[in-house]
Amino acid sequence: MFKNYFERVEQARQYLASHLPEVPEILLILGTGLSGVGERIEREVAIPYREIPSFPVSTVESHAGELVIGRFAGRKVAAFRGRFHYYEGYSTRELTLPLRVMSLLGARILIVSNAAGGLNLNFRPGDLMLIRDHINLIPDNPLRGPNREDWGPRFPDLSEAYSRRLRELFWQTARELGEEIQEGVYVAVPGPSLETPAETRFLRLIGADAVGMSTVPEVIVAVHAGMEVLGVSVIANVNDPDHFKPILLEEVIAQAQAAEARLTRLIEGFIEKL
Ligand code: HPA
Repeated sequence: MFKNYFERVEQARQYLASHLPEVPEILLILGTGLSGVGERIEREVAIPYREIPSFPVSTVESHAGELVIGRFAGRKVAAFRGRFHYYEGYSTRELTLPLRVMSLLGARILIVSNAAGGLNLNFRPGDLMLIRDHINLIPDNPLRGPNREDWGPRFPDLSEAYSRRLRELFWQTARELGEEIQEGVYVAVPGPSLETPAETRFLRLIGADAVGMSTVPEVIVAVHAGMEVLGVSVIANVNDPDHFKPILLEEVIAQAQAAEARLTRLIEGFIEKL
């Protein structure tokens, strides 16, 4: 199973190495709140996932599923439009295959976004939360199994998974643009069911400020591969365990879309500083 995985990564790597002009250092995973960036990249190459050998194909219709290379904010960037989730049925090793391939091709900085439920009661729907740290409650780890020493260490250090340098740069960008942002701890749960009030209380108690169903597997692989990571959550809803209201998908999407223009501007300013 693992040998097969290593071979599949190699197949995808070879395909992309021969189909891409060069692989930029900056890689974006355009989760909820950043799809607008995908439209603003001056495209040089775009390859649908289904044409790349070994790439998983997204089951979520709203996610386009393509790798785009082009210029954004004055820099050459690569972007994944469409990402994979544990709740879709993929193992975390599987859903991080595209990222692993890009790291082997030379990506050095990962910028990732997601939609999350706020647990910190100072947060408001539509807030942007810079991720300072995470808690992994997905019962899987993308590095489980034999380790490839040429990919990274057996026991990668996660004491600073979210680069302090990049967080400081993001804060500086926010100050310059006059944008208020939050910072906090993101907890990843398996999903797809949303949290009960009791689970929400538990997640607050263990120190999380926001909860979502993605990002952590990708960040583990990126750190293993020696990349620097910046993560931002769009706070789509705020879950108060004592006054719990139903979490409506339409509201989650509406809040994420409302925050999108602000996050796009922040990421643009941030990349200009890199
Ligand atoms: N919980 C988990 N994932 C989410 C939420 C939530 O409340 N909102 C957006 N993604």
